[in-house]
Amino acid sequence: MDLKFYATFLVVALLTSHIYHPIEARRIVTGEGDLKLDEQIKILNKPAIKSIQDKGGALYDCVNIYKQPAFDHPLLKNHKIQLKPTSPTEDFTSETSSENKQSKIALESVGCPEGTVPIRRARKEDLIRAKSFIKSHSTIPQSNGYLGQHYAIVRNTNHLKIPMYGSQVKMNIINPRVTQDQSSMALMWFSNGTNEDRHEIQAGWAVAPELYGDDKTHLITYWKAGKSGCFNVQCPGYVHVSKDYPVDVVLDTSIYNGKQEELNLHIYQDQTTKNWWVTVPDNEVNLGYWPGSLISRLAEGAPNIAWGGLAKQSVTGTSPQMGYGTLPESTYTHMGYFVEIQVEPKSAGKYFGSWLPDWEKFVDSPDCYDVVDEIKQGNNGYIVTYGGAGGNCGN
Ligand SMILES: *[C@@H]1O[C@H](CO)[C@@H](O)[C@H](O)[C@H]1NC(C)=O
Repeated sequence: MDLKFYATFLVVALLTSHIYHPIEARRIVTGEGDLKLDEQIKILNKPAIKSIQDKGGALYDCVNIYKQPAFDHPLLKNHKIQLKPTSPTEDFTSETSSENKQSKIALESVGCPEGTVPIRRARKEDLIRAKSFIKSHSTIPQSNGYLGQHYAIVRNTNHLKIPMYGSQVKMNIINPRVTQDQSSMALMWFSNGTNEDRHEIQAGWAVAPELYGDDKTHLITYWKAGKSGCFNVQCPGYVHVSKDYPVDVVLDTSIYNGKQEELNLHIYQDQTTKNWWVTVPDNEVNLGYWPGSLISRLAEGAPNIAWGGLAKQSVTGTSPQMGYGTLPESTYTHMGYFVEIQVEPKSAGKYFGSWLPDWEKFVDSPDCYDVVDEIKQGNNGYIVTYGGAGGNCGN
């Protein structure tokens, strides 16, 4: 056993013994609710071939790719795993990308062995926190916003009735300041339906202590299909395929007025398998996918799509920063942005976002946050910028 491996093993052993310490267990195991949580944890935590701690302190289990929690979903009993997208996820060649000499982001590899995928170890306290967090998580607002959350987004009006099969963006990764019960995110949304009937997927980055247990910026994914759904891999459903990068990986963040770290994110429906993939084309990483059977109302594409910022207020009603905590203006290094936005209507290929003439802005608290969309450099650069300081922004 080499020293490094031994050190990792020791850390894991210590952490494990801490988690299952009998005194701690007695304190939390009390009622029926806890029993359900115990079952949930048993389902989520699969036997690990190896366990690895990332630099943020989160524990990842390298789980047999065929035995990951996803397959405990009743709809996925006979699901045939898709190990990579049917056609490779290539970057869209554009005038802007050659000018923007942005290098790929530094994703920190967890580095699981071949045939396994990194799944964040589910802990009771994480699931308890996540439970309250998910309750306050909503979709693309259709008219008004939602209680306790503030949006600064661009969405389609859907007057044209053109469902989307995908979208690719470059978004700068920021670390907005939040308190323990606030969160601040930048997301891309695809949805069909309203309220309980809604089928939806989301991805982007988030600072959400209630979800992650820290105030770092993480990759985030979310799916909802009627009553089921969750963030990342906190419930069966989403299938992970990358052995190197977990779906909730910590991201390097940008510096205000300095170097911007950009996440090149592509979400799209594989037209052969109907699965919805989430990939990072710049890094040539296929993270994983939501099986088509799970989100069946997105089978013919997503009628509703949006990009932008989402800030959730604390219990006392104070809202956090969105982006850098500044309103969008003319300097890109001063605000949250999505650039080179592309959309995929029907199976017709990729278009720059400027192609579709029915975008509209939605901001529910204009005193606190704002969003701007613009077309730069011919039609290629369709850009959405967002941000705001937060504070007392109303409900
Ligand atoms: C959205 O969901 C409804 C209800 O299931 C369905 O009839 C419709 O075809 C869906 N739209 C798209 C674009 O898939």
